[in-house]
Amino acid sequence: MADVDGVTLDKLKKAWLDYKVLVLRDQHITTEEHIAFGRLFGDLEVHPFTDNDEDYPEVVVLEAGGASGKTFVAAGWHSDVTWRAEPSMGSILRGRIVPPVGGDTCFADATAAYRRLSDDWRQRVDDLYAIHDYSRVFEDRVEPSETERIRTQYPPQRHPVIRTHPVTGARGIYTNIGFTSHIDGLSEEESREILRHLEWAIRNPSVQCRVRWNVDTFVMWDNRCVQHAASADFLPEHRLMERVTVVGDRPF
Ligand code: SIN
Repeated sequence: MADVDGVTLDKLKKAWLDYKVLVLRDQHITTEEHIAFGRLFGDLEVHPFTDNDEDYPEVVVLEAGGASGKTFVAAGWHSDVTWRAEPSMGSILRGRIVPPVGGDTCFADATAAYRRLSDDWRQRVDDLYAIHDYSRVFEDRVEPSETERIRTQYPPQRHPVIRTHPVTGARGIYTNIGFTSHIDGLSEEESREILRHLEWAIRNPSVQCRVRWNVDTFVMWDNRCVQHAASADFLPEHRLMERVTVVGDRPF
């Protein structure tokens, strides 16, 4: 990963599009090299609500257990930062401290999940839009005195319920239990019914894979067509991951 040449980069880009989730084992690289690797795929964002590395704000630090005093694990199915107007195209996560058992990350193919919907359900959701809101997950991270300013900076976003991948053209489910508050224009009851149905389509093990971490395993996933959830089964053991998040474009 530290010295990727042009040919290898092209192969990686193609493999990422083909397989959606790539696992790279035993990559003993520095944080700077992790960042540089991420930049091969686009600009990196700085997440406003997570714990970020003090020296490298584009590195999100996801730590729980051990002596950290932290217990938050990203255990709900989601795609990264869908509350942004231009959510992430992909994320590259590294295992730094890995518990002896558990702490796997599960990935769901949102395109396969969409294809498995019945014709009636596909017709029902094809042209809908949903609202995504950071506060569903990160409300606690914002000082009450800052809420109004942050709300103005990150207003709720309206994205298609079924997103078309900008490169492959494949369509996939783009609502997630983490950040999607409701379906635009529908009653609360109907909105809830649809979101639940789509969530269960994502939760189907037939569209999932599961990654077991080792120290210096890197996993890169395509946020445009993949959802993920970490397993919060390792506490009180210590787990620390570092993520860079590649900026994407407006979903259509
Ligand atoms: C994430 O949601 O990006 C983190 C997933 C994990 O901790 O495995």
